[in-house]
Amino acid sequence: MDLNTEKLPNFKSSFLLFKRKWKRLPKFLRFYLIVAIIFIIFTFSYYVLFIATKKSLIRIDENVDPLLNNDNNGDSNQNIHPPSQFIEHNIMLPPQNSNSDNFDNTNKEFVSTKKLPSILLDGDDNDDDGDKMITNEELFIASKKQNEQQKLIQEAIQHSWNGYRKYAWGKDMLKPITQKGSNWFGIGLTILDSLDTLLIAGLNDEFKQGLEWVKNDLTFDVNENVNCFETTIRALAGLMSAYHISKEKILLEKAIDLGDRLIHCFDSQSKTVPFSDVNLKKKMAKAPSYMPESSLSEVSSVQLEFRDLSYETNDKSYEEKSFATSKHIHDLIQQRKNYLLPMYINPYTGNLMTSTITMGARADSYYEYLYKQYLQTKIEFLLDDYIRSIDAIENRLTSRTKSKLKLLYIGEILNTDQQSIHPKMDHLVCFLSGTLALGYYHEHLQPFYRLQIVNETFINHLKLAEDLARTCHYMYNLTETGLSPEIGYFGQDYQDGDFYIKPRDTHNLLRPEFVESLFFLYHITGKQIYRDWGLQVFNAFQKYTRINTGGYTTINDVRHPKNVKPKDKMESFWLAETLKYLYLLFMDDHKIIRKLLNNYVFNTEGHLLPRRV
Ligand SMILES: *[C@@H]1O[C@H](CO)[C@@H](O)[C@H](O)[C@H]1NC(C)=O
Ligand SMILES: *[C@@H]1O[C@H](CO)[C@@H](O)[C@H](O)[C@H]1NC(C)=O
Repeated sequence: MDLNTEKLPNFKSSFLLFKRKWKRLPKFLRFYLIVAIIFIIFTFSYYVLFIATKKSLIRIDENVDPLLNNDNNGDSNQNIHPPSQFIEHNIMLPPQNSNSDNFDNTNKEFVSTKKLPSILLDGDDNDDDGDKMITNEELFIASKKQNEQQKLIQEAIQHSWNGYRKYAWGKDMLKPITQKGSNWFGIGLTILDSLDTLLIAGLNDEFKQGLEWVKNDLTFDVNENVNCFETTIRALAGLMSAYHISKEKILLEKAIDLGDRLIHCFDSQSKTVPFSDVNLKKKMAKAPSYMPESSLSEVSSVQLEFRDLSYETNDKSYEEKSFATSKHIHDLIQQRKNYLLPMYINPYTGNLMTSTITMGARADSYYEYLYKQYLQTKIEFLLDDYIRSIDAIENRLTSRTKSKLKLLYIGEILNTDQQSIHPKMDHLVCFLSGTLALGYYHEHLQPFYRLQIVNETFINHLKLAEDLARTCHYMYNLTETGLSPEIGYFGQDYQDGDFYIKPRDTHNLLRPEFVESLFFLYHITGKQIYRDWGLQVFNAFQKYTRINTGGYTTINDVRHPKNVKPKDKMESFWLAETLKYLYLLFMDDHKIIRKLLNNYVFNTEGHLLPRRV
């Protein structure tokens, strides 16, 4: 009658039969079978838990891939939801279409985005990363598939290079209007700074011109006091980066020669804090006569470069000498229990000097290199200091304007008034968005996919990054030329304007920090608006800084389209960074962008150094 009771004896007898047979098996075979069964169960659950979940996520995200749907502005895929075990997070978005009049973001997060871009993450289509390093050929092939914007930017790179080659070859910088060169250190800085940009843009003929010059004409045996930091980030890193891509041995040889001279910057009384200048020929370092102190940013932003040289030469001394500075500053922080540091530090005593606290000039890249050195090495205290610094920046230095736009700005703390925020923000501060986005990408987004670790820290970093980028956009968008001034004042008092430009700060030096951040933000968030903003900036450069006969010029006045007062100088970071980041902002090749973000770290001059972890 009852099926269950009928079945029971059957079941029982077969179980007993099985038990008897099992006991008759040899012991080792029984053991082996048990292990095999456990293994199968384990593998199966792992597959279900991790791999299957991950696959479904990636499929969803391919639908919202901004690079596959070119017209996707972040709004068109709202009906695609990630699986529910995924947390949804709100990200501050800049206003769509930039129509910002009725826009208020003081306390609320006004756009909720549920999409995560998958293109850059490890996924099924990731087999191509077998060789993790970028090659010359790969970049050249990609340059044959340029989109319209990249073609224009590549032309701008050629126009800059040709002007330099024609009028200033071998000099540090081009003066495009008077059609001459000018020297700062006398080491052909523009060439060294441009080599990797030429490779990235697929300009192999131009690269060969530069390489020939390095082979035949470059010498570092110059009797000049050069700035240790500037020479390291531009010349040393420029050579290393171009070497990593092209594998041309001569570039490494020159880098070693330069490194052996620059390392004498660390021959200071304190041993831990380097001098700011060194004579390349005499290999003697000193403080410049007008200033005994070294800058915080300068002493703490050469470690990526010297460490890279150590890796390539197997000579640890470059790394040890330079990293002593980072360790020393870390110790100072522990004593002070304060993560915002003043901008001057003494090379004789190693002490911090009471001075302004800023995210701008003389401090900026200290914070950048905390994180980027961590990316290069995974040394834990660097990440820790970075996270705590960003916390302190948010709590002590940020504020908002009272204008309709409610712009977030990062101000300064002056010696004379430690309580309030001095509402001055350098354009240089705009770099921070890029570093924050990079941290979000590596510490949150990537592990998130793999292990689904949820940690608010880096989500907040991305919010700050996007909010700051929005302010930087307006630094360009609200001037008459569409070009940012060097410095803006954002105080709460500027009721009618959004920020104020002092007459002495109206210049634009072709600086990269904003477009650099747009490069990271676009590829990490997938939001089209970051390309739109980048294109506006590029168009403004084309309109107001391009010199027909060759090259681009810095200008003195971003407020007067009719008379921008050209300064007649093309800074080397225009080719090293501004044009490189613009070109990469518009790069559609996911593999290349993924390789760049996953396997390299960009130094503070836009040069590529491989991660070694
Ligand atoms: C998030 O991660 C960072 C870095 O690993 C860590 O310092 C922090 O404590 C974490 N925060 C939370 C809330 O777990
Ligand atoms: C400012 O942004 C608006 C909206 O995107 C755009 O139409 C305008 O051209 C921009 N102005 C400048 C100077 O870039």
